[in-house]
This record gives sequence, C-alpha cells and structure tokens, in this order.
Amino acid sequence: MPRKTTISLIKCDVGSLAGHHVVPEPLLSIGEKNLKKAREDGLINSYYVFHVGDDLQLLTVHEKGGSNPEIHKLAWNTFQEAAKKAAELKLYGAGQDLLKNAFSGNVRGMGPGVAEMEIEERGSDPIVVFAADKTSAGCFNLPLFKIFADPMSTAGLIIDPGMAGGFKFEVMDVKENKKVVVKCPEEMYELIALIGTVGRYMISRVWRARDDLICAVGSVTRLSLIAGKYVGKDDPVMIARAQHGLPALGEILVPFMHSYLVQGWMRGSHWGPIMPVGLKDAKCTAFDGPPRIVALGFQVANGKIAGDDEGKPMIADMFDDPAFDLARRETLDYASMLRRMGEFEPARLGVEEMEYTSLSKVLGKLKDRFKPA
Ligand code: F6R
Ligand code: MG
Ligand code: MG
Repeated sequence: MPRKTTISLIKCDVGSLAGHHVVPEPLLSIGEKNLKKAREDGLINSYYVFHVGDDLQLLTVHEKGGSNPEIHKLAWNTFQEAAKKAAELKLYGAGQDLLKNAFSGNVRGMGPGVAEMEIEERGSDPIVVFAADKTSAGCFNLPLFKIFADPMSTAGLIIDPGMAGGFKFEVMDVKENKKVVVKCPEEMYELIALIGTVGRYMISRVWRARDDLICAVGSVTRLSLIAGKYVGKDDPVMIARAQHGLPALGEILVPFMHSYLVQGWMRGSHWGPIMPVGLKDAKCTAFDGPPRIVALGFQVANGKIAGDDEGKPMIADMFDDPAFDLARRETLDYASMLRRMGEFEPARLGVEEMEYTSLSKVLGKLKDRFKPA
C-alpha cells in the first residue's frame, strides 16, 4: 500500500476578544499545548495553530486518514478546553460553534469546520491552505472556478499538457444535502450556472480529470442549517495542491489580486468585499469585517510539514505581500460603497438568505398587523 499523508484543517469559533474580533493568546496556547502533546504522542506528525478573526484554526499533518476519530477527538477536546477558558475569561461568544454536547467520533455536523485531504505524496507537494472569517464556503466558488477551470486566469490550462483533460468539481447543494460532479471544460456553463448561487451550491472537492488526483477540498457546511437558526457564518477553510501538472502556486493566488463580494460580514447578513491579508491583519473590525482571508503555504514531506532542524514547520504567509495591496484597496472602496446603502438590498442579503437570521423575529412582530390591501 502506498504511504498516505493527511492534511487536516479543523476550525471553530470558541470565543473571542472584544466581540467577534480575534482569538486571544490564552486560547491559541491551548491549541499549541494540545497539538504539541499529540505530536509527542505520535498521533500527528506536524501542526500549526493560528487564527483568522474569531476562529481558532488547527492545522495538522498525520498518517491516520480523513475523518479519523482520534484526530477529530483531538480537535474537539481542544475546542472544548479553549471554550472553557473563554468562558472563564468571559470572552465573547464562548463555545459559539460547539453546537452539540456529546462527541460521536467526527466533528462534522457538530459546528467546527473541516477540510481534510489525504494524498499520496508526489516528489514534492506544495500545499496552500485558505481560511476566511465572516463569510461562508460559497466564497471559494469564484476563486476555485478561476484556478481550475478558467484559462484566462490559469495559464497552465492552456500551456501545460499535464492539465489537458481539465478538472472535475464536486458541488454540494447545502439546502437539499445532495452533491453532483461536473467536469470542465465540457460542462463549464453548467458549473457556473450552479456555483453562481453561492449561498446554496458550494464546491467541496476538485480532482484532476485524467487521473482523479485530488487537488482541492473545502469545508462545506451551513451552521444555520445544523442549528436551525443563525449562529454565525461558517467561516470556511480550503486546502489546495499546487504545481507539476496542477495550477502553479501563483495561479492559485492570482484570483485574489482583486477583491470580490461574498456573503457574510456584519451579522452574516450582508454582501461584503473579501480582503486577502497576512496573519497579522487577520482580524475583523469595520462593520465586523470586512471579511478576511489568509493563505498559508507549505511543503508536505514524508508525512510531515517540511520544517527546520527543530521540527518547526516552515509556513509561508502568502497574502502578507504587496502583490495584494490592490485587492486590499479595492476592498475598502467596495466596502465604503456598500455601507453607504445601509440596510437596503443588495447591500443586505436577499430575503431567502435572511431566513435564518434574527430578522425573521423582527418581522414576526408585524405579521398580524398585515391586512388585505
Ligand atoms: C458575523 C459575526 C458578527 C455578529 C455581530 C452581532 O459572523 O460574528 O458580525 O453577528 O457582532 O453579534 P451578537 O449578536 O453576538 O452581539
Ligand atoms: Mg464568530
Ligand atoms: Mg468567525
């Protein structure tokens, strides 16, 4: 059996500092302590703890495969412990995303977001993980389309024979809980027809068509559909694999040279421009945003994240770069335009998307006062 390496990025909003703003140090240290112990115990081989806004992010690399109960339990217990600490410190929204009480072997459907990719390591395997706050998994539809299907964005689709044959996209219908696989370039128009509806159809996986090599995996959930009411946006994560017959690192990043509008932002109820940022700016401020996204690059090597001599993983903070200044500038321009519209559509989400927010309670008060016109 060929050796398999698994990259697991599991995240959760366990509580944050000064509103839904950032995960403070004491909670990050709980992540650090528990993952360090798991590495010493041999459960995982490498880890990196970080945050994007109010979401605690646990990146691990191991050889246990996807949906492994021990790995998921490690994440679940860490989130529980961090939520307990958050409650002690009276941080805001302590335990917000821990929607279920008893752990049953897998964190999927329990509140935390999960992206996991099991790979057979190639000669060299560059990986990029993306994590966003104040938005949902539909925010990856546009960049994933550009990366793996748009020849005007990914030059390799034209120039690299390794990509001839295109890519296959698994799209989830999060309302009906169904999925479909669509192949590009042949079914490009159908794919766009689906994934243009970003609140309902979300790309969950991408494979290279000629050999079914896994290329990208996203965390697709709708917390509101799990909880039955608004409990924050899903603040998604995504893992992409780069180079040598796959889109180059730069082809994976180039869609983020421009900002674009995503669902989320204040109270998960608005369209807002996404802002690519380095880890130092991964915090939400104006109107609880604008929605932020970070991209971290690393090499997977022999079941680990390639690291320095002490085993510290080597992580590249991709958006901490002037190449994304234009997108940041655009974010501010679009944000100020949208905010001038206040609570009028299309600045606020459409009515169907508002169904799971507290707006329905507000409108409920008027229900009996409507008379036939
Ligand atoms: C959006 C988000 C925030 C909160 C907002 C109100 O995902 O987390 O924008 O919705 O700050 O929060 P509460 O209702 O907790 O005061
Ligand atoms: Mg939150
Ligand atoms: Mg969040």
